[in-house]
Amino acid sequence: MTGPFAGKAIIVTGASSGLGRAIAVDLARQGADLWLVGRSGEALAETAGLISAAGGPVAQSEPMDLRIRGPLAKLIEVVGATHPHLFAVINNAGVMYPEPILSGTIERWQEMLDINVMAMLEGSKAAVLTMRKHGQEGHVINLGSVQARFEEPGVYGISKKAAEMIGNTLRAEVEGDPIRVATVIPGGFATQLARGFTPESLANLSGNLTRLNLNPENGDDMARIVGDPRHIADAVRYILSQPIGINIQEMVVRPPVSTKA
Ligand SMILES: NC(=O)c1ccc[n+]([C@@H]2O[C@H](COP(=O)([O-])OP(=O)(O)OC[C@H]3O[C@@H](n4cnc5c(N)ncnc54)[C@H](OP(=O)(O)O)[C@@H]3O)[C@@H](O)[C@H]2O)c1
Repeated sequence: MTGPFAGKAIIVTGASSGLGRAIAVDLARQGADLWLVGRSGEALAETAGLISAAGGPVAQSEPMDLRIRGPLAKLIEVVGATHPHLFAVINNAGVMYPEPILSGTIERWQEMLDINVMAMLEGSKAAVLTMRKHGQEGHVINLGSVQARFEEPGVYGISKKAAEMIGNTLRAEVEGDPIRVATVIPGGFATQLARGFTPESLANLSGNLTRLNLNPENGDDMARIVGDPRHIADAVRYILSQPIGINIQEMVVRPPVSTKA
């Protein structure tokens, strides 16, 4: 396989859907060897199928539940030990329950913090320690959200603010290493992220569209508020294509019109 990322191993969490799938397919098309992490083995196999259809190297599916600590760090260590070059870990998996703190539940808070924060910390630490151990250049890319910059983002926004802080802190900790850390901060993109929304959250989103005078039935309007995941893949590819002597600290990528969930 040829391409700018040929011979480089990249691990993408949340690769069974949405942004993670788009990122994984794009990087494989550039020659990278992909490890795909998510819960659904079937959906990961679909991503692997898209990768082979795009002419990429055979991708490895790694089904796991990122609420549980241990398997992600282990996978990163094993890839580092068995592949000639662990080049990037992309901590993309996430869940979103957009609701006020006062109507949230401990279970939903816990799930958001376990996946959006704890799995990101676990993946980030294991990536840096493994890259350091093998003395190679590498990247950690974490997914934030513009929700962290809105006024009423609830616990989802808190988790995404944490993602930004993880990126800032880790970047400072690896200044002396050939390892770069970036946070990609998307606006609204067409994925399965709303699958866990409560009826109240969906009604709230629909109310926001009405206030913006947008009609979801109209394709043009929707394109202005919901982006194509391939634009996030473009951003990730750009970051990974920079020389190791420069650090893209964060990149906000969003459609022109903003809607609060
Ligand atoms: N789409 C947007 O508008 C948007 C905006 C800002 C930020 N983001 C962020 O972008 C990232 C990707 O989200 P998306 O929009 O692509 O949503 P998505 O289509 O729902 O994808 C989420 C991914 O996370 C994985 N995941 C969720 N819970 C998991 C668990 N317990 N264990 C393992 N994997 C788990 C899912 O895998 P399974 O389905 O196999 O469990 C899926 O692959 C998230 O961090 C999200 O917060 C998205």
